[in-house]
Amino acid sequence: MINVENIKKSFSGQVILDEINLKIPSGEILAILGESGTGKSVLLKTIMGLLKPDGGKVEIDGVNMTKLPERKKLDLRKKIGYLFQEGALYDFMNVFENIAFPLKEHTKLSRGDIKEKVLNVLKVVDLEGVEAKYPTELSGGMKKRVGLARSIILDCKVLLCDEPTSGLDPIRSRDISDLIRDVSKKINCTTVITSHDIENAFRVSDRLALLREGKFVAIGTQQDLESSEDLFVKDFIR
Ligand SMILES: Nc1ncnc2c1ncn2[C@@H]1O[C@H](COP(=O)(O)OP(=O)(O)OP(=O)(O)O)[C@@H](O)[C@H]1O
Ligand SMILES: [Mg+2]
Repeated sequence: MINVENIKKSFSGQVILDEINLKIPSGEILAILGESGTGKSVLLKTIMGLLKPDGGKVEIDGVNMTKLPERKKLDLRKKIGYLFQEGALYDFMNVFENIAFPLKEHTKLSRGDIKEKVLNVLKVVDLEGVEAKYPTELSGGMKKRVGLARSIILDCKVLLCDEPTSGLDPIRSRDISDLIRDVSKKINCTTVITSHDIENAFRVSDRLALLREGKFVAIGTQQDLESSEDLFVKDFIR
């Protein structure tokens, strides 16, 4: 379970997150919606502990991430899969090495076990046979899949995906949305995605939260949002 409580974050005097609250039960997939520049990525990075909030706290399974010493934070972060908005694959490593990287860094698994795990996760994301390719040889959709494979390789409890469908065509967007839902439910991890792609956000998530001017203006299921009387909500999901 993720508990975001009274999180405040400003950059040079500009308030991005204005004491926001959000509870995400274990195993749920929640989508954070909002216009470009509203702070979706900032919120995700704050949950991950990559950004320090000015106030409030983030708890993951009862552990206060914001208060944790750096060393312990690193330990907890291993349980969090993060799919970066930009993909963030290492261009000098091939697909196999990219996905194996967290295992080599954080586990003492043998080479044989690492190989087995990597080939398995490549199957999960439907990318068998590309392990020797380099990121520059992959399409945008394939890169997202490799990124997803890398973010779930450490058996994560929490999966954070920043704009998983951005830059993809409608079919690939749907594919990656279904894949995230599949994987998330299969490994039973609490999942947060950010998106301004409403259709796929509906497709992938159990609930959605709409961010505007530092606050959530709506939190609920697709039906809740569709029956909202709020003009901004109506306009946003139209
Ligand atoms: N490290 C930073 N330093 C200063 N300002 C930042 C930093 N990160 C984000 N911001 C600012 O915070 C605001 C929110 O940025 P954020 O990246 O969270 O938007 P977003 O909702 O993810 O947008 P998009 O849909 O385009 O990805 C922007 O005004 C951005 O310029
Ligand atoms: Mg963003």
